Amino acid sequence: MKMSKKIIFATGNEGKMKEIREILGDLGYEILSMKEAGISVDVVEDGTTFEENAMIKAKAISEACHEIVLADDSGLEVDYMNKEPGVFSARFMGEDTSYHIKNQAIIDRLEGVPEEERTARFVCVIAAVFPDGRQVTKRATIEGIIGYEEKGENGFGYDPIFYVPEYGKTTAELSPEEKNAISHRGKALTAMKEELRRG
Ligand code: IMP
Repeated sequence: MKMSKKIIFATGNEGKMKEIREILGDLGYEILSMKEAGISVDVVEDGTTFEENAMIKAKAISEACHEIVLADDSGLEVDYMNKEPGVFSARFMGEDTSYHIKNQAIIDRLEGVPEEERTARFVCVIAAVFPDGRQVTKRATIEGIIGYEEKGENGFGYDPIFYVPEYGKTTAELSPEEKNAISHRGKALTAMKEELRRG
């Protein structure tokens, strides 16, 4: 049987593709975005967990090609908000609402809440569907606390309010390399790399 030498990653996000190529680059696979692979599939992410949503995406793309397909789903869980926004992180307060407004809304919801109750985490699940139909998911998290104001210019989304105590900084104040080394997405990709090594 001919070994598949390609991985298709179900994202249109160039920032994610860069990170994925950095982490998986030495495996010997050609790593393509959906666009680069010429695949265009509309996926409705209607799962209730990160695992379900990542797998919905990976399976949908897998039906359109015979390569290894990876997909990810991620979000922010704020314990004081019953783990919201969770799988709705991108859609929280509306897809087109700026993150400055979303971040301020979370800070406001936690007004007067002491530090020990401001715990939160970024979650990332990477799903893989192999050409033989095998399905695997890997979950990783990074723990932090919700800050009192936005800080930092790097990263994206909720990074300016996600404070990592070990670093004394928000993830928006870390360099991309520092963030990749400890982030939910970096760790989930590294765990999936072990799976891909096995083939
Ligand atoms: P998706 O996995 O691309 O659907 O993204 C989910 C959403 O979670 C993003 O739009 C952000 O709002 C949030 N999110 C996921 N990872 C991060 C991160 O590393 N920093 C900041 N926000 C994140």
